Amino acid sequence: MSYKLPIRPRRNRVNSSIRSLVQENQVTVDDLIMPLFVIEGEGQKIEVPSMPNIYRFSLDKLAAEVAELWELGIKAVALFPAINDDLKDSVATESTNPQGLFQRAIQTVKQTCPDMLTICDVAMDPYSSDGHDGFVENGEIINDITLPILAKMAVAQAEAGADIIAPSDMMDGRVAVIRDVLDQAGFANVGILAYTAKYASAFYGPFRDALDSAPKAGDKKTYQMNPANTREALREAELDTAEGADMIMVKPGLPYLDVVQSLSQSSQLPIAVYNVSGEYAMLQAAAEKGWLDYRSSVCETLMSFKRAGADIILSYHAKEFATWQKEA
Ligand code: PBG
Repeated sequence: MSYKLPIRPRRNRVNSSIRSLVQENQVTVDDLIMPLFVIEGEGQKIEVPSMPNIYRFSLDKLAAEVAELWELGIKAVALFPAINDDLKDSVATESTNPQGLFQRAIQTVKQTCPDMLTICDVAMDPYSSDGHDGFVENGEIINDITLPILAKMAVAQAEAGADIIAPSDMMDGRVAVIRDVLDQAGFANVGILAYTAKYASAFYGPFRDALDSAPKAGDKKTYQMNPANTREALREAELDTAEGADMIMVKPGLPYLDVVQSLSQSSQLPIAVYNVSGEYAMLQAAAEKGWLDYRSSVCETLMSFKRAGADIILSYHAKEFATWQKEA
């Protein structure tokens, strides 16, 4: 027996050929940026305890990893240095050392794979004895003293071969200042991927473990955004766009898909999303307990970013996703 149902959405789902024919979104390896943690030393490939299968690489191991990623079709990496404590100070002096770890890491990537894009985080926290993204005075994070420090850091990275500067500090006016110094220093082709809507999130925990960069005192709420706000993200996007950002990013990803969607509908710029360390750790932990099928959860998560309108996905899942695509 059958009902008179002229409209049957299930017709478009009856087999996998038709399902793929009508599929609206697709994640490809071209969309992905792989974040990489780098450390001093030789022969070091140390797993981050709260991020199974994610490592901190010494530069020799970094070269091998980058070659592997390139083979898998990944064309961009985001670099994050773990700086030794004795090199940290209140003004992030080490960040402009031409022989510094970050600078050598950029050179290592470019020497290994000249066409691999290096996305370089700009913020004071890896170098700061206070563990904050900006300059701290009497417990306060001072915006305008931070700006020239970030600007010098960006130029030092560009000199080492950075393709894209990614300010993650959330100081006001930093995109304009960085664009200006890059242009003055002859780096008109070095782009800026602005962490535009970076929220004060609990999901950065494992990242701070990986880099030992948790703030010594105070929290980041005076510069990172309040998780309750969406319109404020649009305001930040307007500013970063006017200041010359080439791409804008939302971070974290999963808890902020609505923000990704808003920005993708209102902005002309490419939209990036950062599927952060805590999001990675959640899926790993659930899978370890046997509570989730890891591979399908990862693929569904990455797809959710595309569906929300992201063009670019920074994700610790990038390498494994690329591996799965290659197998398929
Ligand atoms: C530092 C920075 C952070 C992340 C990227 N850049 C941490 C923070 O702001 O405390 C987090 C990324 C992640 O959790 O994967 N400016």
